[in-house]
Amino acid sequence: MKELILPRPNPKQELFLRDRHRYIAFGGARGGGKSWAVRVKAVLLAFRYPGIKIMIVRKTYPELRANHITPMRTMLGDSAVYRDTTKEFIFPNSSVIMFRHCQNDSDMDKYQGTETDVLFIDEATQFTEEQFMKFKACVRGVNSFPKRVYLTCNPGGVGHTFIKRLFVDRAYNLSERAEDYSFIRSLVTDNSALLESDPDYVEQLKALPPKLKKAWLEGDWNVFEGQFFEEFKNDPSHYSDRRFTHVIEPFEVPESWNIVRSFDFGFAKPFSCDWWAVDYDGRAYLILQLYGCTGAPNEGVKWHPDKIFCEIARLEAEHRWLRGKRITGVADPSIWDRSRGDAIIDFADRHGIYFEKGDNKRISGWMQCHYRLSFDGSGMPMVYFFNTCRAAIRTLPLLSFSDANPEDLDTSQEDHFADSFRYFCMSRPIAPKKTAAPLPEPDDPLELNKKRYDRFSY
Ligand SMILES: Nc1ncnc2c1ncn2[C@@H]1O[C@H](COP(=O)(O)OP(=O)(O)OP(=O)(O)O)[C@@H](O)[C@H]1O
Ligand SMILES: [Mg+2]
Repeated sequence: MKELILPRPNPKQELFLRDRHRYIAFGGARGGGKSWAVRVKAVLLAFRYPGIKIMIVRKTYPELRANHITPMRTMLGDSAVYRDTTKEFIFPNSSVIMFRHCQNDSDMDKYQGTETDVLFIDEATQFTEEQFMKFKACVRGVNSFPKRVYLTCNPGGVGHTFIKRLFVDRAYNLSERAEDYSFIRSLVTDNSALLESDPDYVEQLKALPPKLKKAWLEGDWNVFEGQFFEEFKNDPSHYSDRRFTHVIEPFEVPESWNIVRSFDFGFAKPFSCDWWAVDYDGRAYLILQLYGCTGAPNEGVKWHPDKIFCEIARLEAEHRWLRGKRITGVADPSIWDRSRGDAIIDFADRHGIYFEKGDNKRISGWMQCHYRLSFDGSGMPMVYFFNTCRAAIRTLPLLSFSDANPEDLDTSQEDHFADSFRYFCMSRPIAPKKTAAPLPEPDDPLELNKKRYDRFSY
């Protein structure tokens, strides 16, 4: 067998490679060299203990292939054979590295009889505690090989709370022993290889909205609390200059700008239909909104779906910003659902209102909303809301984080406009911007007077 040459670990990865605890968590931020450490440790164990069984788990197969199987094939060359049918590397010394994925609870049933000596769960916060417990139960075997569970993690995700409890807060129940658990914190700044090869990656993390930046760049586990769109600003003193505010006075929308209609529907809940004008820089303006309720008693307008689309069609025929325009539509994909009888989309079709299915990837959708809301160097965001769109500017600042999945928002709230905003953003994704420092707070009276003067001078 040829000699296998592995790149040098950085100091944090070295700690991970040498750790001997039963449960070892690594990372806690983005880009800290976690997946790399998983691959290298698995290969080192395979060589060190002939006959050992190792399992690497990730949520989806494409992620497994991209993050582990393909790079490991390159790393190993002909030092081990990869069997695609069983998704395993077989080593000449009989060691095995198995790759397994688990997208939902039913996938777990496949792994009930599986035995492994060492388990790696990459991106462990993407798994629920119950899924983690089931995977953990696979670590068994009557042999002298080490029995260990390695986890990599970022703050956020459905597993945030239990990973934080075990490895960050170190709060144990009677069946857990504190001395079994070890956490090695690794930030992107610890990953010198990535800093050298892709300095832009750090810039991208710095451009995240403040809470995500604290979580993914600084590895802070306590940030997912409070207002979901904390960056949302409704500052009337900047309605005219449009700096550091998202809400502005309406203006006449130029004829040539594109109009996009986004739509979220709720059964017996509010619906939100939103018209966005998009300028030549791709900056979006929420110019008009139709917001109401489809059924729950005593809650505002209660419209049958037919009435909603009738009104949308009327507005598009009559409103001076909309009439005669080619309007593209994007909507909540659930309106194509026929399991409850007529699909809502059929009512829309009857009124000549057409939509594409919105991309419903929630976390990347929220990221797009955050990217649009973030201010550039001169205080301009990529999305504005006319102050006449009252439901939008009322509901956005009320939304808070979900306890179950801290990267998401709590869906029991009035999130219908936010969902419609998300479908719109996903229909025109943008790259993150470098964020600006906020305007200095005017603390001396002269400054305050100047600000007031600015406000009334338009
Ligand atoms: N010691 C090392 N030597 C050479 N390259 C490395 C080393 N550690 C990490 N890298 C490279 O740095 C990049 C990021 O590492 P990796 O994918 O392991 O990070 P991660 O923490 O898993 O990131 P993410 O949070 O996005 O999942 C990859 O291209 C990886 O191959
Ligand atoms: Mg990774």
